[in-house]
Amino acid sequence: MKILVTGGLGFIGSHTVVELQNEGFEVIIIDNLSNTSLSVLDGIQNITGKVPAFEQLDLRDKNKVQDFFKRHTDIEGVIHFAASKAVGESVGNPLLYYENNINVLVYILQELEKNHTANFIFSSSCTVYGQAEKMPITEDSSVQTALSPYGNTKQIGEEIIIDTAKVTNVNAVLLRYFNPIGAHPSAEIGELPLGVPQNLVPFITQTGIGLRQELSVYGDDYPTPDGTAIRDYIHVVDLAKAHVIAMQRLLNKKNQDKVETFNLGTGTGSSVLEVIHAFEKVSGQKLPYKIVARREGDITEAYANTDKANTVLGWKAQFTLEEAMASAWKWEQKIRS
Ligand code: WQD
Repeated sequence: MKILVTGGLGFIGSHTVVELQNEGFEVIIIDNLSNTSLSVLDGIQNITGKVPAFEQLDLRDKNKVQDFFKRHTDIEGVIHFAASKAVGESVGNPLLYYENNINVLVYILQELEKNHTANFIFSSSCTVYGQAEKMPITEDSSVQTALSPYGNTKQIGEEIIIDTAKVTNVNAVLLRYFNPIGAHPSAEIGELPLGVPQNLVPFITQTGIGLRQELSVYGDDYPTPDGTAIRDYIHVVDLAKAHVIAMQRLLNKKNQDKVETFNLGTGTGSSVLEVIHAFEKVSGQKLPYKIVARREGDITEAYANTDKANTVLGWKAQFTLEEAMASAWKWEQKIRS
């Protein structure tokens, strides 16, 4: 079975390629290398012993997308990661996000609708819920007006897929990630640090290794037990395994609807201070940090109700927060060695 993974050299994409190969799938990756490097291919091979096929393509070029699918007529499924994903950047550069995250999705779906079968896994985000009223968040929690163009592209992307599946042979699973963190236990692949990290965990590990002076904690005046914001931090390997299970579900025609949606989290919320303490525990060192003002657009709390993924998908996150932090720290030490 040949699976196309777009953005397959990225953080979540590369971990998913490893898990696909572990399950015996043949993988072909498309990546434009805008937010990663070719060295990730070596990391994947060092883990699985198999080199996935790879094509460097900019999927914003419709002709290149059409040409790719003309040359690869044996693709049984597509896992679509390729997208821009920095919330802050999307506010300042919305058209980059609408072109890269929407046009590309349309071009790929236009190719899939030509095929007799089309199994499609979409990388979505808990961002679509905004600040949900009720915790933990279920899949039928209302989708709120997006707080950023990035979040809007995930909402629009889901709607495009739903509308397309209604009138074509496309079967899809929408995976709404909470907060992916950590790295493969082998430290052969992980989150590649490009620029100043916007996300909490890479900033913590870069502070731990001495690259950053101290962590700024964005607010300790939230209505939470310790005043800092709460998120659901899920190990990237747990997340990757969910993609393989979802693809197998579609390939085996086990899906109950043309489009199914699943929250992918641990089901447990952790505050910023709890993440810091987890890092200090696994690294054995104090983390320098200061409390500063809240970050514009941040929500107080988001953690997943994982019942549907557990029962319908048959998937459950296995790694703890400390294990995820330990893997992130091991990766940071490896790439700085
Ligand atoms: C987590 C918590 C911050 C950095 C974003 C996207 C989401 C997904 C994951 C793509 C918040 C606090 C952070 C720092 C801090 N990305 N923080 N100091 O904002 O929950 O989600 O990334 O799919 O779509 O919205 O993740 O890691 O940026 O922040 O105090 O230097 O850590 O305020 O409470 P977030 P994050």
